[in-house]
Amino acid sequence: MSVSKTAMITGVTGGLGGALAELYAERGWRVIGVSRSADAKHDACERLVASEQRSMEDARKLLAEEPDLVILNAGRIEEEVGEAGMPLAEATREIYEINALFPSYFAIAAGESRRRPLDVVAIGSIADGSPSSFGPVYHASKIALHYFYTGVGPIANHADPGLRLRLYRPGVIKGRLSWAPVLRLNERGRKVRARRCEGAPEPRAVATRIADWIEGDGWVGSYDEPLSFRALRVLFALAPNLTYRLQRLGWRKGSRFETGARARSRREPGASL
Ligand SMILES: NC(=O)c1ccc[n+]([C@@H]2O[C@H](COP(=O)([O-])OP(=O)(O)OC[C@H]3O[C@@H](n4cnc5c(N)ncnc54)[C@H](OP(=O)(O)O)[C@@H]3O)[C@@H](O)[C@H]2O)c1
Repeated sequence: MSVSKTAMITGVTGGLGGALAELYAERGWRVIGVSRSADAKHDACERLVASEQRSMEDARKLLAEEPDLVILNAGRIEEEVGEAGMPLAEATREIYEINALFPSYFAIAAGESRRRPLDVVAIGSIADGSPSSFGPVYHASKIALHYFYTGVGPIANHADPGLRLRLYRPGVIKGRLSWAPVLRLNERGRKVRARRCEGAPEPRAVATRIADWIEGDGWVGSYDEPLSFRALRVLFALAPNLTYRLQRLGWRKGSRFETGARARSRREPGASL
C-alpha cells in the first residue's frame, strides 16, 4: 500500500497558499495548512495548524508534524506608509519577521535533527533582484531571504543530503498583495502598475508552476520575471551607486509625495503632506 506524502503549506488562507493546497490535495498528497488563526479553514487541508510563525519553537512544532515537503508561503507587504512615504516601524518588523526571519529560523530548526528526507521551499519574489523606493521593506526582506537560503542551503545539504533548502521567486500574481506597491505611486505610476496587476497570472497557474518545479532538482526557481527586473538586477550588482541615483530620480518622477513636504510641515505646522 502506498502511503501519501505530506505537504505543509503556510499562509494557506491566502491566494497562492490556497491554490497550492488544492493542487497538492488533487495530486494525492496529504495537506497540512498553517495559519496564524485557529479558526482558519480550507477544504483541501486534512488539518490546519495554528502558528504565529515567529520563533525557533514555532518552527520546531511545525517540524514535529513530520512533513515531507514544507512550502513557506506566508508573507506580507506594506499596507500603510508613514509621513512622506517613509516605512512604519512596526510594519517593518512584521514584514522582516514573516518574510525573512521565520523562514531562516525554520531552515536552522530543520537542520537540527531529522530522520527522513525533507524539502523546504521558501517563497521569495522576483522583487529580491534590486532595491526599490516603492516597496523598500518588502524588497529588502525578500533579498534577505534569498541570501540566507543560498548561503545556508549548501551547508545544510552537505551536512545532511536528505535536507534541501530551496527558494522559489514568483513574479506578480493576481490578487490583493500585488496591488500594495501602489501605496507610494502617483497617478501615472498607478496606471502602469494596474496594467501589470490586471495581466498577472491567476494563483492556480503560479501554483502549478511551483509544484512542477518542486518535482525537479533546481535550487532557485523563478517565474514571470520581466526583462526590466533582470536589467535592474544586473545594474544593482554592477553599479550600486548608479542604482541609488536612479532610485532617487524614479522617486521624484513616480511618487505621490512632494519634495521637501516634510521639512515644510515642520517649519509651518498644519501644512498638508
Ligand atoms: N501576490 C504577488 O503578486 C506575489 C508576487 C511575488 C511573490 N509573492 C509571495 O507569494 C506568497 C503568497 O502571496 P499571496 O499573494 O498569496 O499573499 P496573500 O493572499 O496576502 O496571503 C499571504 C498569507 O500569509 C499569511 N500572513 C500574512 N502576514 C503574516 C504574518 N505576519 N505572519 C504569519 N503569516 C502571515 C496570511 O495567512 P494567515 O492570516 O492565515 O496566517 C495570508 O493569508 C508571499 O510570500 C508573497 O510575498 C506574491
